Amino acid sequence: MIKRRAIIATVASLAFFGHCGNVTVVKPAHAQEGAAKPAPVLPSMAGETVLVAGATGRVGKVAVELLKAQGVKVKGFSRNIDKAKEEVKDVQWVKADVRDPKTLKNITKGVDRIIFAVGSNSFKDNTNTPDLVDNKGVAVLVDEARKTGVKQFVLISSVGVTRPNVAEGTDFQKVMAKVLSNKLEGENYLRASGLNYTVIRPVGLWNRDGGQNPIGIMQGDVEVPGMITRADVAAVAVNALVNPDAKGKTVTIFNVTHPQLDGWKSAFAGIPADAKN
Ligand SMILES: NC(=O)c1ccc[n+]([C@@H]2O[C@H](COP(=O)([O-])OP(=O)(O)OC[C@H]3O[C@@H](n4cnc5c(N)ncnc54)[C@H](OP(=O)(O)O)[C@@H]3O)[C@@H](O)[C@H]2O)c1
Repeated sequence: MIKRRAIIATVASLAFFGHCGNVTVVKPAHAQEGAAKPAPVLPSMAGETVLVAGATGRVGKVAVELLKAQGVKVKGFSRNIDKAKEEVKDVQWVKADVRDPKTLKNITKGVDRIIFAVGSNSFKDNTNTPDLVDNKGVAVLVDEARKTGVKQFVLISSVGVTRPNVAEGTDFQKVMAKVLSNKLEGENYLRASGLNYTVIRPVGLWNRDGGQNPIGIMQGDVEVPGMITRADVAAVAVNALVNPDAKGKTVTIFNVTHPQLDGWKSAFAGIPADAKN
Protein backbone atom coordinates (compact mmCIF):
# COMPACT_ATOMS: atom_id res chain seq x y z
CA MET A 1 0.00 0.00 0.00
CA ILE A 2 2.80 2.38 0.98
CA LYS A 3 4.66 1.53 -2.23
CA ARG A 4 1.51 2.19 -4.28
CA ARG A 5 0.99 5.56 -2.57
CA ALA A 6 4.60 6.46 -3.23
CA ILE A 7 4.23 5.65 -6.91
CA ILE A 8 1.02 7.65 -7.15
CA ALA A 9 2.68 10.63 -5.44
CA THR A 10 5.66 10.48 -7.80
CA VAL A 11 3.47 10.14 -10.85
CA ALA A 12 1.23 12.97 -9.67
CA SER A 13 4.19 15.25 -9.21
CA LEU A 14 5.65 14.36 -12.61
CA ALA A 15 2.25 14.95 -14.18
CA PHE A 16 2.15 18.38 -12.51
CA PHE A 17 5.56 19.36 -13.78
CA GLY A 18 4.67 18.03 -17.20
CA HIS A 19 2.28 20.98 -17.45
CA CYS A 20 5.02 23.56 -16.85
CA GLY A 21 6.21 24.80 -20.22
CA ASN A 22 9.83 25.37 -19.22
CA VAL A 23 10.38 22.00 -17.59
CA THR A 24 11.87 18.92 -19.10
CA VAL A 25 10.19 15.85 -17.65
CA VAL A 26 12.78 13.13 -17.55
CA LYS A 27 10.41 10.26 -18.27
CA PRO A 28 7.03 11.48 -19.48
CA ALA A 29 5.89 7.90 -20.08
CA HIS A 30 6.51 6.97 -16.46
CA ALA A 31 2.81 7.21 -15.56
CA GLN A 32 1.98 4.45 -18.04
CA GLU A 33 4.84 2.23 -16.93
CA GLY A 34 3.49 1.41 -13.49
CA ALA A 35 6.11 0.60 -10.89
CA ALA A 36 9.61 2.04 -11.14
CA LYS A 37 12.19 -0.12 -12.90
CA PRO A 38 14.62 -1.93 -10.62
CA ALA A 39 17.49 0.34 -9.67
CA PRO A 40 20.81 -0.52 -11.33
CA VAL A 41 23.13 -2.73 -9.29
CA LEU A 42 26.03 -0.45 -8.48
CA PRO A 43 29.69 -1.45 -8.33
CA SER A 44 31.12 -1.71 -4.83
CA MET A 45 33.25 1.15 -3.51
CA ALA A 46 34.63 -1.02 -0.69
CA GLY A 47 38.31 -0.28 -0.20
CA GLU A 48 38.15 2.94 -2.23
CA THR A 49 38.80 6.38 -0.77
CA VAL A 50 36.17 9.10 -1.05
CA LEU A 51 36.89 12.71 -0.18
CA VAL A 52 33.85 14.36 1.39
CA ALA A 53 34.33 18.13 1.23
CA GLY A 54 32.05 19.48 3.96
CA ALA A 55 32.27 16.28 6.00
CA THR A 56 31.52 18.23 9.20
CA GLY A 57 28.35 19.68 7.66
CA ARG A 58 24.86 18.32 8.11
CA VAL A 59 24.66 16.64 4.69
CA GLY A 60 28.34 15.71 4.74
CA LYS A 61 28.12 13.89 8.08
CA VAL A 62 25.37 11.61 6.77
CA ALA A 63 27.33 10.94 3.59
CA VAL A 64 30.36 9.96 5.69
CA GLU A 65 28.32 7.40 7.63
CA LEU A 66 26.76 5.94 4.47
CA LEU A 67 30.19 5.59 2.91
CA LYS A 68 31.79 4.01 5.98
CA ALA A 69 28.93 1.47 6.09
CA GLN A 70 29.99 0.40 2.59
CA GLY A 71 33.59 -0.17 3.59
CA VAL A 72 34.81 3.08 2.04
CA LYS A 73 37.77 4.98 3.47
CA VAL A 74 36.70 8.59 3.98
CA LYS A 75 38.93 11.62 3.76
CA GLY A 76 37.70 14.99 4.96
CA PHE A 77 38.91 18.50 5.61
CA SER A 78 37.79 21.24 7.95
CA ARG A 79 38.78 24.70 9.09
CA ASN A 80 38.45 23.45 12.67
CA ILE A 81 40.32 20.17 12.74
CA ASP A 82 39.95 19.49 16.49
CA LYS A 83 36.18 19.87 16.36
CA ALA A 84 36.03 17.75 13.22
CA LYS A 85 38.00 14.90 14.82
CA GLU A 86 35.79 15.05 17.89
CA GLU A 87 32.51 15.09 15.97
CA VAL A 88 33.15 12.72 13.07
CA LYS A 89 35.17 9.58 13.76
CA ASP A 90 37.14 7.30 11.45
CA VAL A 91 37.86 9.97 8.87
CA GLN A 92 41.31 10.86 7.57
CA TRP A 93 41.20 14.55 8.53
CA VAL A 94 43.17 17.38 6.95
CA LYS A 95 43.08 21.00 8.10
CA ALA A 96 42.10 23.08 5.08
CA ASP A 97 40.06 26.06 3.95
CA VAL A 98 38.77 26.29 0.40
CA ARG A 99 39.50 30.05 0.43
CA ASP A 100 43.18 29.21 0.69
CA PRO A 101 44.08 26.97 -2.29
CA LYS A 102 47.49 26.00 -0.91
CA THR A 103 45.77 24.18 1.98
CA LEU A 104 44.11 21.91 -0.58
CA LYS A 105 47.25 21.16 -2.57
CA ASN A 106 47.49 17.40 -3.19
CA ILE A 107 44.33 16.78 -1.13
CA THR A 108 43.06 14.39 -3.84
CA LYS A 109 46.14 12.17 -3.75
CA GLY A 110 44.84 8.59 -3.35
CA VAL A 111 41.22 9.76 -3.67
CA ASP A 112 38.93 7.82 -6.02
CA ARG A 113 35.79 9.96 -5.84
CA ILE A 114 34.58 13.24 -4.35
CA ILE A 115 31.40 14.61 -2.83
CA PHE A 116 31.41 18.40 -2.47
CA ALA A 117 28.96 19.43 0.28
CA VAL A 118 30.62 22.69 1.35
CA GLY A 119 28.40 25.76 1.68
CA SER A 120 29.45 29.34 2.39
CA ASN A 121 26.80 30.12 5.03
CA SER A 122 27.99 33.74 4.89
CA PHE A 123 25.09 34.86 7.12
CA LYS A 124 27.21 33.60 10.03
CA ASP A 125 30.62 34.72 8.70
CA ASN A 126 30.69 37.42 6.05
CA THR A 127 34.31 36.65 5.18
CA ASN A 128 33.25 33.21 3.99
CA THR A 129 31.87 34.65 0.78
CA PRO A 130 29.90 32.76 -1.88
CA ASP A 131 32.47 33.88 -4.44
CA LEU A 132 35.36 32.30 -2.53
CA VAL A 133 33.50 29.21 -1.30
CA ASP A 134 30.63 28.20 -3.60
CA ASN A 135 32.43 29.30 -6.77
CA LYS A 136 36.24 29.37 -6.48
CA GLY A 137 36.20 26.76 -3.71
CA VAL A 138 34.68 24.28 -6.15
CA ALA A 139 37.17 25.26 -8.84
CA VAL A 140 40.17 24.67 -6.57
CA LEU A 141 39.02 21.15 -5.79
CA VAL A 142 38.12 20.44 -9.41
CA ASP A 143 41.66 21.41 -10.43
CA GLU A 144 43.15 19.12 -7.81
CA ALA A 145 40.80 16.30 -8.88
CA ARG A 146 41.89 16.65 -12.51
CA LYS A 147 45.56 16.39 -11.56
CA THR A 148 45.05 13.01 -9.90
CA GLY A 149 42.37 11.57 -12.19
CA VAL A 150 39.46 11.40 -9.75
CA LYS A 151 36.82 9.07 -11.21
CA GLN A 152 33.65 10.96 -10.26
CA PHE A 153 32.90 14.39 -8.70
CA VAL A 154 29.48 14.88 -7.15
CA LEU A 155 28.64 18.52 -6.45
CA ILE A 156 25.81 19.49 -4.12
CA SER A 157 24.61 22.81 -5.44
CA SER A 158 21.09 24.23 -5.09
CA VAL A 159 17.81 24.63 -6.88
CA GLY A 160 17.33 28.19 -8.16
CA VAL A 161 20.86 28.77 -9.46
CA THR A 162 19.51 29.82 -12.84
CA ARG A 163 17.03 32.28 -11.24
CA PRO A 164 19.03 34.25 -8.65
CA ASN A 165 17.11 37.59 -9.08
CA VAL A 166 20.26 39.50 -8.13
CA ALA A 167 18.85 43.03 -8.35
CA GLU A 168 15.76 42.57 -6.18
CA GLY A 169 14.62 41.69 -2.70
CA THR A 170 15.48 41.93 0.98
CA ASP A 171 19.02 41.72 2.37
CA PHE A 172 18.49 38.00 2.93
CA GLN A 173 17.38 37.54 -0.67
CA LYS A 174 20.36 39.54 -1.92
CA VAL A 175 22.77 37.27 -0.05
CA MET A 176 20.90 34.23 -1.38
CA ALA A 177 21.15 35.64 -4.90
CA LYS A 178 24.94 35.81 -4.49
CA VAL A 179 25.02 32.26 -3.17
CA LEU A 180 22.97 31.01 -6.12
CA SER A 181 24.84 32.89 -8.84
CA ASN A 182 28.18 31.73 -7.41
CA LYS A 183 26.98 28.14 -7.11
CA LEU A 184 26.13 28.29 -10.82
CA GLU A 185 29.69 29.48 -11.58
CA GLY A 186 31.05 26.56 -9.55
CA GLU A 187 28.77 24.14 -11.40
CA ASN A 188 29.84 25.54 -14.77
CA TYR A 189 33.50 25.11 -13.88
CA LEU A 190 32.91 21.46 -12.98
CA ARG A 191 30.82 20.76 -16.10
CA ALA A 192 33.57 22.22 -18.31
CA SER A 193 36.38 20.39 -16.49
CA GLY A 194 36.34 17.10 -18.37
CA LEU A 195 35.83 15.19 -15.10
CA ASN A 196 32.99 12.73 -14.72
CA TYR A 197 30.46 14.61 -12.62
CA THR A 198 26.93 14.81 -11.24
CA VAL A 199 25.46 18.14 -10.13
CA ILE A 200 22.72 17.78 -7.54
CA ARG A 201 20.39 20.74 -6.95
CA PRO A 202 18.33 20.09 -3.83
CA VAL A 203 15.35 22.21 -2.85
CA GLY A 204 15.23 23.60 0.73
CA LEU A 205 16.90 21.28 3.25
CA TRP A 206 15.63 20.09 6.58
CA ASN A 207 16.81 17.66 9.20
CA ARG A 208 14.16 14.96 9.32
CA ASP A 209 15.03 11.28 8.92
CA GLY A 210 15.83 10.15 5.41
CA GLY A 211 14.05 7.39 3.53
CA GLN A 212 10.59 8.44 4.72
CA ASN A 213 9.28 9.91 1.47
CA PRO A 214 9.94 9.27 -2.21
CA ILE A 215 12.64 11.39 -3.82
CA GLY A 216 11.62 13.19 -6.98
CA ILE A 217 14.47 13.73 -9.44
CA MET A 218 14.24 15.87 -12.55
CA GLN A 219 16.71 17.22 -15.06
CA GLY A 220 17.77 20.88 -14.80
CA ASP A 221 16.69 23.61 -12.39
CA VAL A 222 13.06 22.97 -11.52
CA GLU A 223 11.14 25.38 -9.29
CA VAL A 224 9.69 22.94 -6.77
CA PRO A 225 7.95 24.48 -3.74
CA GLY A 226 9.07 21.73 -1.39
CA MET A 227 11.77 20.42 0.89
CA ILE A 228 14.13 17.46 1.08
CA THR A 229 15.85 15.92 4.07
CA ARG A 230 19.60 16.32 4.33
CA ALA A 231 19.81 12.54 4.79
CA ASP A 232 18.09 11.98 1.43
CA VAL A 233 20.45 14.44 -0.26
CA ALA A 234 23.39 12.50 1.17
CA ALA A 235 21.91 9.22 -0.09
CA VAL A 236 21.51 10.62 -3.62
CA ALA A 237 25.08 11.97 -3.58
CA VAL A 238 26.55 8.64 -2.46
CA ASN A 239 24.55 6.79 -5.13
CA ALA A 240 25.74 9.22 -7.80
CA LEU A 241 29.37 8.42 -6.97
CA VAL A 242 29.05 5.05 -8.71
CA ASN A 243 25.77 5.10 -10.63
CA PRO A 244 26.78 5.08 -14.31
CA ASP A 245 23.43 6.68 -15.23
CA ALA A 246 24.23 9.70 -13.04
CA LYS A 247 27.32 10.73 -15.00
CA GLY A 248 27.25 14.06 -16.82
CA LYS A 249 23.86 15.02 -15.37
CA THR A 250 22.45 18.02 -13.51
CA VAL A 251 19.33 17.28 -11.48
CA THR A 252 16.88 18.91 -9.11
CA ILE A 253 15.90 16.66 -6.19
CA PHE A 254 13.02 17.00 -3.74
CA ASN A 255 10.89 14.92 -1.42
CA VAL A 256 7.49 14.21 -2.84
CA THR A 257 5.61 15.63 0.10
CA HIS A 258 4.59 18.95 1.57
CA PRO A 259 6.18 20.16 4.81
CA GLN A 260 2.68 20.07 6.32
CA LEU A 261 0.23 17.30 5.59
CA ASP A 262 -2.57 19.70 4.68
CA GLY A 263 -0.25 22.34 3.23
CA TRP A 264 -1.70 21.87 -0.23
CA LYS A 265 -4.91 23.54 0.96
CA SER A 266 -3.30 26.95 1.38
CA ALA A 267 -1.03 26.35 -1.64
CA PHE A 268 -3.94 27.16 -3.97
CA ALA A 269 -3.50 30.81 -2.97
CA GLY A 270 0.00 30.94 -4.45
CA ILE A 271 -0.99 29.49 -7.82
CA PRO A 272 -1.61 32.07 -10.56
CA ALA A 273 -5.03 32.02 -12.23
CA ASP A 274 -5.23 30.74 -15.81
CA ALA A 275 -4.55 33.36 -18.46
CA LYS A 276 -7.73 34.43 -20.30
CA ASN A 277 -7.40 33.78 -24.03
N1 LIG B 1 20.09 25.20 3.49
C1 LIG B 1 19.37 24.87 2.43
O1 LIG B 1 18.12 24.90 2.46
C2 LIG B 1 20.08 24.45 1.17
C3 LIG B 1 19.32 24.27 0.01
C4 LIG B 1 19.95 23.81 -1.16
C5 LIG B 1 21.31 23.55 -1.14
N2 LIG B 1 22.04 23.76 -0.01
C6 LIG B 1 23.50 23.43 -0.05
O2 LIG B 1 23.69 22.10 0.43
C7 LIG B 1 25.05 21.96 0.85
C8 LIG B 1 25.11 21.25 2.19
O3 LIG B 1 24.41 22.02 3.17
P1 LIG B 1 24.53 21.70 4.74
O4 LIG B 1 23.30 22.23 5.37
O5 LIG B 1 24.96 20.32 4.96
O6 LIG B 1 25.77 22.67 5.11
P2 LIG B 1 26.35 22.99 6.56
O7 LIG B 1 25.78 22.08 7.59
O8 LIG B 1 26.23 24.48 6.79
O9 LIG B 1 27.91 22.61 6.40
C9 LIG B 1 28.77 23.43 5.68
C10 LIG B 1 30.10 22.70 5.50
O10 LIG B 1 30.94 23.53 4.68
C11 LIG B 1 32.22 23.57 5.29
N3 LIG B 1 32.83 24.86 4.95
C12 LIG B 1 32.24 26.08 4.93
N4 LIG B 1 33.13 27.01 4.58
C13 LIG B 1 34.30 26.37 4.34
C14 LIG B 1 35.58 26.80 3.96
N5 LIG B 1 35.86 28.08 3.74
N6 LIG B 1 36.56 25.86 3.80
C15 LIG B 1 36.30 24.55 4.05
N7 LIG B 1 35.10 24.08 4.42
C16 LIG B 1 34.11 24.99 4.58
C17 LIG B 1 32.00 23.42 6.78
O11 LIG B 1 33.18 22.88 7.33
P3 LIG B 1 33.97 23.47 8.61
O12 LIG B 1 33.09 24.48 9.29
O13 LIG B 1 34.26 22.26 9.45
O14 LIG B 1 35.22 24.06 8.03
C18 LIG B 1 30.85 22.40 6.78
O15 LIG B 1 31.37 21.09 6.72
C19 LIG B 1 25.65 23.37 0.87
O16 LIG B 1 26.38 23.57 -0.33
C20 LIG B 1 24.41 24.26 0.84
O17 LIG B 1 24.67 25.53 0.27
C21 LIG B 1 21.45 24.20 1.15
